[in-house]
Amino acid sequence: MMLRNDAIKVGRNDPCPCGSGKKYKRCCLNSKNPKPVNIEKLYQQKYDIRLKHPEDIDGIRTTGQLVMETLDLMEKNIRVGVTTNELNTIAHEFALKNNAVPAPLNYRGFPKSICTSINEVICHGIPENRALKDGDIINVDVTLIYNDYYADASKTYFVGTPGPDAIKIVRVAAESLKEAMKMLAPGNTIGDIGWAIQSYAEGEKCSVVREFVGHGVGLDFHEAPHVPHYGKKGDGIVLVPGMVFTVEPMINLGKAGLFVAGDNWTAITSDRKLSAQFEQTYLITEDGFESLTPYDL
Ligand code: MF3
Ligand code: CO
Ligand code: CO
Repeated sequence: MMLRNDAIKVGRNDPCPCGSGKKYKRCCLNSKNPKPVNIEKLYQQKYDIRLKHPEDIDGIRTTGQLVMETLDLMEKNIRVGVTTNELNTIAHEFALKNNAVPAPLNYRGFPKSICTSINEVICHGIPENRALKDGDIINVDVTLIYNDYYADASKTYFVGTPGPDAIKIVRVAAESLKEAMKMLAPGNTIGDIGWAIQSYAEGEKCSVVREFVGHGVGLDFHEAPHVPHYGKKGDGIVLVPGMVFTVEPMINLGKAGLFVAGDNWTAITSDRKLSAQFEQTYLITEDGFESLTPYDL
C-alpha cells in the first residue's frame, strides 16, 4: 500500500488502527510493539466504509459497463419530442433484457427506473409524459444492480440546439467532475475532492449544490462515506485503495439554493436557473483511481 502510515489521522479515542476493536489509547497507542495497521477493519469500524475486494470490484465494473450502455442508449434516443417516460421504458427494458435491476424503482418510494432532470431540475426528476423541447438540457441518472453489485452514473445531454446558458452550465459541470478526478489518489482526502470542485465552479461564477452528495456504492445503493462537492483541502477521510464511491457534482448557473417539489423528489433551483450534473463511480487504486463507469468528459 502506497500510503504513509501517518497519513491516516487516528485520535486517542478512535478504534485502534490494528483492527482490534479497542480504543487506540487502550491498545497500540502506548504499546512497545504496536500491531500492523489493518486499514480494512479500521475503515469499517471508524467510518462504516466497506473497502472492496478484487471480486467485488470486478462485479461493480461489470455493472458499470451495463450502466454505460444504458447511457449510450439514452443519448441515441434523446431528441425533440421524446418524453421522459419513453426514455424510462427504454432504460427499464434494456436492464431487464440484461438480467439487471434498475435500482431507483421503488427505492424509498421512487416510482420509476431512472431519474430525468430537465433544465432547472437539479436531480431526482421523475419520468413523465413531458416531451423534450429544443434547447432543453436533461440529466439522465442510471443506477443498476447486476449480480448484487451496484454502479451509478449520469450525464447531462443537450436537446436540439443549446443556447449559451446551456452550453456554459454543461461545460462547467463536466469540468467540475474532471477537476475532482485530479484528486482521486490514496493519501488525498474527501475534502480535497470538494475543494477542487467548489474552487473551480465558483471561479466560473457558478454555484455548488450542498444538499446532495456523492456516496459510497457497490454493495448497496448508498453507502458510507458522504462525498460533498464543496470543502476544504485536507479535510475529511483519507482516501485508501479499495474505496468505491461516486462523485456527482450538481452545478447551478445561479444561486445554490433549492426546493423539493410536492412529489417529494424533484429538486429544483430556487431561482429557476439551469443546473447540470455528471456522475461516475470511482475506485481508489494503489496509484490513483479507475472509473468503473468510464466515459469522456
Ligand atoms: N442515482 C442517484 C444518485 O446518484 C440516486 C437516485 S435515488 C432515486 O445517488 F430514488 F431517486 F432514484
Ligand atoms: Co449517486
Ligand atoms: Co446517480
